[in-house]
Amino acid sequence: MTDQNSTGAVAGQSAPAAGGTRKVFVKTYGCQMNVYDSERMTDALSKDGYEPTTTLEDADLVLLNTCHIREKAAEKVYSQLGRLRDLKKARAKEGREFMIGVTGCVAQAEGGEILRRAPAVDLVIGPQTYHRLPEALKRAKQGERVVDTDYAIEDKFEHLPAPKKAQTRARGVTAFLTVQEGCDKFCTFCVVPYTRGSEVSRPLAQIVAEAERLVEAGVREITLLGQNVNAWHGEGEDGVERGLGALLTRLSQIDGLARIRYTTSHPRDMDDELIAAHRDLPKLMPYLHLPVQSGSDRILKAMNRRHTAAEYVALIERIRAVQPDLAISGDFIVGFPGETDADFEDTLELVRQVGYAQAFSFKYSVRPGTPGAEMDGQVPEGVKSERLERLQALLFEQQTAFAAGCVGKEIDLLLEKPGRMPGQLVGRSPWLHPVNIDANGSEIGDIVRARITGAGPNSLFAEAIG
Ligand code: SAH
Ligand code: SF4
Ligand code: F3S
Repeated sequence: MTDQNSTGAVAGQSAPAAGGTRKVFVKTYGCQMNVYDSERMTDALSKDGYEPTTTLEDADLVLLNTCHIREKAAEKVYSQLGRLRDLKKARAKEGREFMIGVTGCVAQAEGGEILRRAPAVDLVIGPQTYHRLPEALKRAKQGERVVDTDYAIEDKFEHLPAPKKAQTRARGVTAFLTVQEGCDKFCTFCVVPYTRGSEVSRPLAQIVAEAERLVEAGVREITLLGQNVNAWHGEGEDGVERGLGALLTRLSQIDGLARIRYTTSHPRDMDDELIAAHRDLPKLMPYLHLPVQSGSDRILKAMNRRHTAAEYVALIERIRAVQPDLAISGDFIVGFPGETDADFEDTLELVRQVGYAQAFSFKYSVRPGTPGAEMDGQVPEGVKSERLERLQALLFEQQTAFAAGCVGKEIDLLLEKPGRMPGQLVGRSPWLHPVNIDANGSEIGDIVRARITGAGPNSLFAEAIG
């Protein structure tokens, strides 16, 4: 999982509602798992007559689905709540309902503290209890200020309603599907084990049923999600306990499903079966997000990543040996406590050895309650900024080189949405680049054969062939 979506995005679609229906505006911060959760909350509320809106002014209910991963992400929520408080006051004068809910990882981490800091908030719901959202909303409407941050024992996925076919279709031809939640790894910088709870895998049959439902509604590409997606395990149809490789194999048997991806993986959980899946499953896209965080063994140890830099590089080599076409993506943290110039140089060296097609890099952010926050040797902000700049320059160079290397290649392109120019569509390359192409009679959802003709800073250009 990558929190590349940190500017926030709106779930659902902008279908204009009939007069009188209530509307929910969901603002999503953080990673893809929050995007998925926002959709499922929207589905849960549709039973109560709520339609999604992308216009705040139309909303009767606002949900901020929040992220706690770095300080900035968490602080964003409070500034947004300040603006919503003003809107709530204005609505009260008109006598119109305006409910505010905080969900996601800040909700889990701060719980009732949010109600104290932001008196306009009506409900606070943690990620493991979204199936109880309609009930919580009912109580909030009766005047109770609700906080529900239990780690529910019942399976929330069993209780969350499936979207209507039309809703799935409106969301497009690609979809996220959470297969695993939570994390037991306890990297010393990270809040996720505290905000999402311990690692849980959804049962195979439940995942297959959801994937089949998505495909029936027109979805062509599914991205399996998990904080540690490759830690997924479950009983196969033969009753034997298997890993993510087996799940991918099962899903690739679904007719009509053209492409499968998964994110985010931990290097420790890349087993042989999963590596073999990259060789054996044509539907599995040649893209792997495999964060390493640092190239220094000393720092990796302090981070509790439980592998060395050399083990990571060797792992990448093993996967590339079975799938030479693979694009590698990564996450990096600079300025972890104790990181010296030499440690940072090791990170640059690892990056040079691997060659990344895509990457996300961050300055270490102190998270209260994590072991990293208590460590000696906190790195000054200025040093962090300098290192980040150098790392990002190198990663950008590699990204640009990878994209330039795509020019001239022939690919299958899944057309996803209208392009900026009339007659243009945007698709995704196997390596996840947005690709602009003239529609030429093709439609969204089609997979066309195309030749890549150019590479811009953020996207590729292609022409149809054959
Ligand atoms: N489970 C995934 C990552 C989840 S969080 C993994 O193990 O790789 C996404 C990314 O946010 C991380 O990979 C890390 O690079 C970054 N991140 C997490 N905590 C952070 C912190 N305290 N400061 C800066 N970046 C952080
Ligand atoms: Fe956080 Fe580490 Fe778990 Fe990833 S593996 S979610 S970085 S604790
Ligand atoms: Fe953020 Fe929670 Fe995802 S902290 S990155 S929204 S798991």
